[in-house]
Amino acid sequence: MLTLHWKNATDASVGPRHGITKADLSGISRVMGKALKTVIAQCVGGKLGYAGLPAHKAYPDSVKALAGKFRPATTDLIVLGIGGSALGNIALQAALNPSTYNLLPDGKRPGPRLFVLDNVDPALVGDVLDFIGPRLATTCVNVISKSGETAETASQFMIFRQALKEKLGASFASRIVATTDAKKGTLHDIAKADGYAALEVPGDVGGRFSVLAPVGLFSAAMCGIDIDKLLAGAEAMRKRTENPTWRKNPAAVLAAIKHLATAKGKIMHVMMPYSNRLYLLADWYRQLWAESLGKQHDRAGKEVFAGPTPIKALGATDQHSQVQLYREGPNDKLTIFLEVAKHPRELAVPDVFGDVPGLAYLRKADLGKLLNAEKIATEYALACSKRPSVTIRFDEISPHTVGEFIYLYEFTTSLAGELLNINAYDQPAVELGKKAAFALMGRDGYEAMAKEIAPFAQSDEKYVL
Ligand code: PA5
Repeated sequence: MLTLHWKNATDASVGPRHGITKADLSGISRVMGKALKTVIAQCVGGKLGYAGLPAHKAYPDSVKALAGKFRPATTDLIVLGIGGSALGNIALQAALNPSTYNLLPDGKRPGPRLFVLDNVDPALVGDVLDFIGPRLATTCVNVISKSGETAETASQFMIFRQALKEKLGASFASRIVATTDAKKGTLHDIAKADGYAALEVPGDVGGRFSVLAPVGLFSAAMCGIDIDKLLAGAEAMRKRTENPTWRKNPAAVLAAIKHLATAKGKIMHVMMPYSNRLYLLADWYRQLWAESLGKQHDRAGKEVFAGPTPIKALGATDQHSQVQLYREGPNDKLTIFLEVAKHPRELAVPDVFGDVPGLAYLRKADLGKLLNAEKIATEYALACSKRPSVTIRFDEISPHTVGEFIYLYEFTTSLAGELLNINAYDQPAVELGKKAAFALMGRDGYEAMAKEIAPFAQSDEKYVL
């Protein structure tokens, strides 16, 4: 079970100026209770699509059936997607399979090698294409796009579709799984015309909330992750988040701390897992938090420029890179530690150098124990500098706890949006950049915009060194 520990965010640990006080909690109580009631009602009333995913039956069933069909004859799985259509897949794989997964020989891996290509960097895409080239006949390409027209995903897809077609001829379509809207869209239409296997991106679930839909579940199931346990973990957390007493609800307490800390100037929210496996969950969190909460206007149209900046750091690695700043730089951060009580494996330091005074204490120490001690040490050091933190503790890293974490953060994000009175489910600011890229690439209908962009693309000698 996942637990939230928040003492070190309070005045008891970091003083009243930077920590949450009893008065702060009383002050937010009414508005928090109201926000919680609203979000619970939206979840229960079916208005927040993601809340229906943990207990969904048809989605995991369709994913398992398709994975069962593809897995035995697939050596390599290529996921093409970006943003919410990729970050969840990456996070699940990193958390629940070993970091050496792709390097393990066939038979030692529970599924195919996995490459999630979430960028159009030609070096990345080209390198992977070269690598899988000899095995194209046993490669499965899972193209994921809710809108079906995202330029990055579409261009990658055109490359992989062509490669499969050249190698396999008419049967190329049998190696493609399209995850997209069930009824409409460019990718939907192509999938239908070409005859790919298809999985659904639910219409009422935004990309960044879709990891527990077929978007994230297919690659997970293909790579041997128990998606039933993942969903069961999310469902267990869903029940906890529907506790209407906000002080007993982990998502409500987390949202309240984050809101109150932001009001005290902690406008940077650093997620710092003390676990390499959980590090990429922090990437998933960054997108969820940034796209959901970074908004210029509130729901009444007032200019608010809302949204604490999500940052990721890795313990203990970043103790040697970031913690100097976190302790002595501006006191503008709330740190959210992710701690693992029982790491996936034990590894002891050998009983050597007993006669070396500076190293003897490390003999026989377990690395997990050292890592956790370093986390407490950093928590303490931050508190000494009056820097607040909270800890989300995983008793172990398992599909269940990862499912719990995902749902906890999704619900917390909804509550945070409610407290800020903003729409947490759109991303209007992303559109302009997308359209500008269309214009720069010569898409029909974007000629006027291309002209508008031209001065920005031209360099001026005065400003070039
Ligand atoms: O969270 C979001 O909505 C975005 O990050 C999208 O997932 C991302 O832009 C990709 O969109 P699509 O799935 O339509 O290709």
